[in-house]
Formats: sequence, C-alpha cells, structure tokens
Amino acid sequence: MYAALRPLLFRLPAETAHHAGIWALSLAEGAPNIARWHRNRLKAQRPALAMTVAGLTFSNPVGIAAGLDKNAEAMTGLFGIGPGFIEVGTVTPRAQEGNATPRVFRLIEDEALINRMGFNNAGADAVAGRLREQTWRPGPIGVNFGKNRDTPLERATDDYVGLAHQLGPLADYVVLNLSSPNTPGLRALQEPDALRVLLSLVRAVLPKKPLFLKIAPDLSDHAVRQAVDVVLECKLDALIATNTTLERNVTHALAKETGGLSGRPLKARATEVIRVAFEHSEGTLPIIGVGGISSADDAWEKILAGASLVQIYSGLVFNGPGLIRAILDGLEAKLAQHKLSSLQAAVGGVAG
Ligand SMILES: Cc1cc2nc3c(=O)[nH]c(=O)nc-3n(C[C@H](O)[C@H](O)[C@H](O)COP(=O)(O)O)c2cc1C
Repeated sequence: MYAALRPLLFRLPAETAHHAGIWALSLAEGAPNIARWHRNRLKAQRPALAMTVAGLTFSNPVGIAAGLDKNAEAMTGLFGIGPGFIEVGTVTPRAQEGNATPRVFRLIEDEALINRMGFNNAGADAVAGRLREQTWRPGPIGVNFGKNRDTPLERATDDYVGLAHQLGPLADYVVLNLSSPNTPGLRALQEPDALRVLLSLVRAVLPKKPLFLKIAPDLSDHAVRQAVDVVLECKLDALIATNTTLERNVTHALAKETGGLSGRPLKARATEVIRVAFEHSEGTLPIIGVGGISSADDAWEKILAGASLVQIYSGLVFNGPGLIRAILDGLEAKLAQHKLSSLQAAVGGVAG
C-alpha cells in the first residue's frame, strides 16, 4: 500500500508529509483497538527476537528513532505498526519553534534526508501530559532530552537535570541527546570533562532509571572510546549510535543544505561507531544501533557489529511502515540460517 501512497506523499514538502503521517497515526489514539489488532496481526511479539536491555524487556529489537514523534502524539498508532519500542522527543524544557522552514529535505536517489529542525517541540509540560495518558505500552517508551536553544551552554546541565526530574519518572528509559547538529554548541557536551559532569548530575537524579547517551557519528574513533569510558564510569546503561552526520558523502544537489544527513549514506559510519564502542567496552555496554537501516540485512549488520537493539527513521520514510515487519521476518530467517535460537547470541558477531 505504501508503494501507492509514496508518490503522493513525496509530492508534498517533506515536513508536510511528516505532519500528515503523524496526524494519520494519531487517529489511532481514538481507536486503540485497531492499533492493537494491527500489532497482533504483524506478530510484533517475536520470542526468538526478544531482548532484555538495561532490565527492560523488548518484544522485538526494532524501535522508532527519536525525532519522528517529538511530542508523543502518536504512540498508540506507532505501536500499531509493530515496533519493539518507541523513543519520543527530543523534548526541551520549554516549547520552541525550531529553525525556519523548509528544514527537511529528501535526497531521494540516495535514500537520505537532511534535516535542520532544531528541536521544534511542544515542551516538557505537554509531553508529560501525553505520557501520563498513555496506558497502552506494549513496549518501552523512551524519552529523549535536549536543551533549549536559548539556554547558554554553561547552563545546559540545568535543562537536562530539570527534564530528568519532570519526565524521568514517566519514561521507561531516558536518552541524553548531546549529538544533534542543529543546536549550536550542543555536540561540545560530548567532550569527556563536560560529559562526566552532565552524566553524573542526571544519574544522581535518576539513580535507577535506564539512562542512555546518544552520540554523533562525527566523533573520531578515539572520541567514541572516550565517550564509552565516561558512560561506563557514570554507570549509564546503554549507548545510542548514532545521530545524523555533518559529512556529505553524496553528490545530490540538495547536499549543500545545512543540517544532519540520515539514511543510507550514514549507514557505514554508524555501524563503524557501534563496532568501535562494542570492542572498546568488550561487549559490556549495550548499544542501540541507528543509521541507514532499510532492510533486515542492514539491521543484521548492526547487530553483528554489536547492537542489541536497532532504531529506524529515514528507512520508514522511504519504505513505509511495512519495513518493521520485513525486518522482523528477515531477522528470524537469519537466526534460522545461522542455527541460533535467540538474537542475543548474534550480538557482536556469529562464528563461521
Ligand atoms: C527529520 C528528522 C528529525 C530528527 N530529530 C531527532 C531528534 O529530535 N532527536 C534525536 O535524537 N534524533 C533525531 N533525529 C535522528 C534520528 O533519530 C536518527 O538518529 C538518524 O536519523 C539516523 O537514523 P536513520 O538513518 O534511520 O534516519 C532526527 C532525524 C530526522 C531525519
């Protein structure tokens, strides 16, 4: 069905198509039984693919990446398309508009997007209200935190600590997003000394909550290892690798647009970051792999590199919601092919 819909959606500006998609999914809030029925039909619960990460149970390993449902408006509809988990946000303490439009671009031939949204979101109060109302949670709901654009970088920790107090208790897991390229200076917080301060302050507010850090693909391998060390030192539970890239390994006319590139051109570097982090932590730090996944083979590649879970965003735009089921079916086939009884056994590589 998406094959028929896609040409129509792609005639709309990318952000308009996005709003149409979120609106359509949000209709399920009024008809949760349809979402439940659809989720059952897709067999979102896959025993061989089930994972436990940070003490949370995931009925399958494919999640919705941050940025798709920034304001937690469409969680029921999204669960209806079969993911094992959903990450809402990025949420900032106060609502903000983000950058001027247009701010999302499709590089169709490259199966890529460039976005410079700039954390447009309804703010923590609005998202808190929606999370409180969301009783149907067939999988974990993560909340991704960011700083307001007008909060000075020296005060960034205040934003993250405030969000931890307000939204932490409503989230199954919390993500500290220090890797968006669209908030000036944000990525500097990934540097070890600043990172240590921020992670320990948030950890102190949420001593037991599954707490993850999301990093950029543009860190050097050395900087990835340093970030892993700080994450382990501050007792965070997992790493999300990666956010969008400032690199432009594409020749598309739109490649000159400012913003973060996602989708297929990001795939190789995101996988490499996973591999570096997995090897450096000797497999002790769970990793959520994200970047350019548009098939079961892509997801499998991330898992072999060390990801315990994966997330998708651009792949959904180009392939539609059926991608989730296709990935789940394909991962089950991979397990059968390698004579493995669980996905956990494939994390970090399989013999032979
Ligand atoms: C339009 C758009 C908006 C995004 N917004 C966010 C965001 O608010 N917070 C965040 O952590 N990542 C955000 N991302 C990054 C995605 O979560 C993901 O890390 C990245 O797109 C790579 O995955 P993909 O190649 O499957 O798209 C956004 C991505 C896109 C395309």
